[in-house]
Amino acid sequence: MIHDNAAARVTEELLAVVDAGNPGDKLPSVRELMARHRASPVTVQTAVQQLAARGLVEVRPGRGTFIAAQRQPAAATPPDLSWQSVVLADGRPGEDELAALLATHRPEALPLSCGYFDQQLQPLGALGAAMARAARKPAAWGRQPTEGLPDLREWFANEVGGGLRAADFTICSGGQPALAAAFRGLGRPGEVVLVEAPTYLGAMAAARDAGLRVVGVPTDEHGVRPDLLAAAFRTTGARLFYCQPLHANPHGAVLSAERRAAVLDVVAEAKAFLIEDDYARGLTLDGCAPPPLSVDDNDGHVIYVRSLTKVVAPGMRLSAIGARGVAAARLRTARLLEDLFVAGPLQHAAVEFLTSPAWPRHLRSLRTGLRQRRDALVEALRTHIPWLDVTVPSGGLHLWLRLPDGSDEPTITAEAMARELVVYPGRPWFAAEPTGQYLRLSFGGLAADLAPVAASRLADALRAAGSGPT
Ligand SMILES: Cc1ncc(COP(=O)(O)O)c(C=O)c1O
Repeated sequence: MIHDNAAARVTEELLAVVDAGNPGDKLPSVRELMARHRASPVTVQTAVQQLAARGLVEVRPGRGTFIAAQRQPAAATPPDLSWQSVVLADGRPGEDELAALLATHRPEALPLSCGYFDQQLQPLGALGAAMARAARKPAAWGRQPTEGLPDLREWFANEVGGGLRAADFTICSGGQPALAAAFRGLGRPGEVVLVEAPTYLGAMAAARDAGLRVVGVPTDEHGVRPDLLAAAFRTTGARLFYCQPLHANPHGAVLSAERRAAVLDVVAEAKAFLIEDDYARGLTLDGCAPPPLSVDDNDGHVIYVRSLTKVVAPGMRLSAIGARGVAAARLRTARLLEDLFVAGPLQHAAVEFLTSPAWPRHLRSLRTGLRQRRDALVEALRTHIPWLDVTVPSGGLHLWLRLPDGSDEPTITAEAMARELVVYPGRPWFAAEPTGQYLRLSFGGLAADLAPVAASRLADALRAAGSGPT
């Protein structure tokens, strides 16, 4: 039997040998370590690799592992890095909120804040097989076309189902870099970008980082309000509007059929671009998803962004940005300046996976899993927090929970954290004054059977923060 802590024991022995020995001394063999600690070859090799990465040991193929010749001497005095804060002055806008969103928490804490789903819902076997096939292709390790693999661009064009052709797409490494490229490539510092209020805080941070001013346009349960969008274009002179028509993060709305044409008309009238972030395509849980807005765009107003990280796995950091005309060229340049081209093994693995039967199979089981998680959380919230209204989103990964007026979001978040529950406050999702107090609760990362525990902890946190009956 292989013990769980065998890895720790192997590392401990190796460190002791390194400490006591001299550079060039040979370490115990893999076979010896396996036998002594009843460890698997993978466990021993991983421990050795970790020490090699720290520069403590050196692996000589066919001869064994040795204490490394060059061991890093400890610095005599701790470095004084304080000068850097004076030189670098202000931080980058939005970095704290985005860092908080991506923070890793104690494994004991229940995650209701994660914008990705966890391993239980990831197609790990199929991804591993696709990656292995991709890694065996010599072409995968070479320089890739800057605009991305033709087959992958073709796949994105087919998925959109009209309007954009494969040649209109540029492959990027995830939705965030694609949005950053759009703001950098199409905006000029000092200009305004309109966004829905509320909207994805990472998009606002990227826009501000590109020197743009962010102005929010109110939304309701049918998406952005076209009348107010038109007014915002008029008063600000904006040329960019960032929009999530499908299961918007955080509020979950789908832009209604009646508003789609109105929004496109307003954008065309303003001679502006609409950056469509189709991050939740594939995550529709009730009914059918409407097609992307870009399908109805004749004259190159819509810049279409679709990422695979939400629907495949966080490690599938690939996206495509679709645009036509001069805008497409500007976007391609913005992407090129940032990272030249996207890693070949990942692009090839994506093509392998997306064109195999594993992809539709994954989509079906993902939707079933997400639906269970959403329904379990909704039911648990209604049971444990009956004093709040829970609006059920028809897809995506998040619930947008309105709190009683005057609620103190930071205190609630802290009280939840004290009870091993991670939730995210509503305030950072608004460009300016919020319309109320909210929590964003992400059901994507929490197994359905844990929903009652999470809801009961949240109920306690709300009561402790004065947002519930005592
Ligand atoms: C609406 C939206 N767009 C884009 C992104 C960026 O995702 P990624 O860079 O992982 O593709 C996120 C991540 O949370 C998101 O919620």
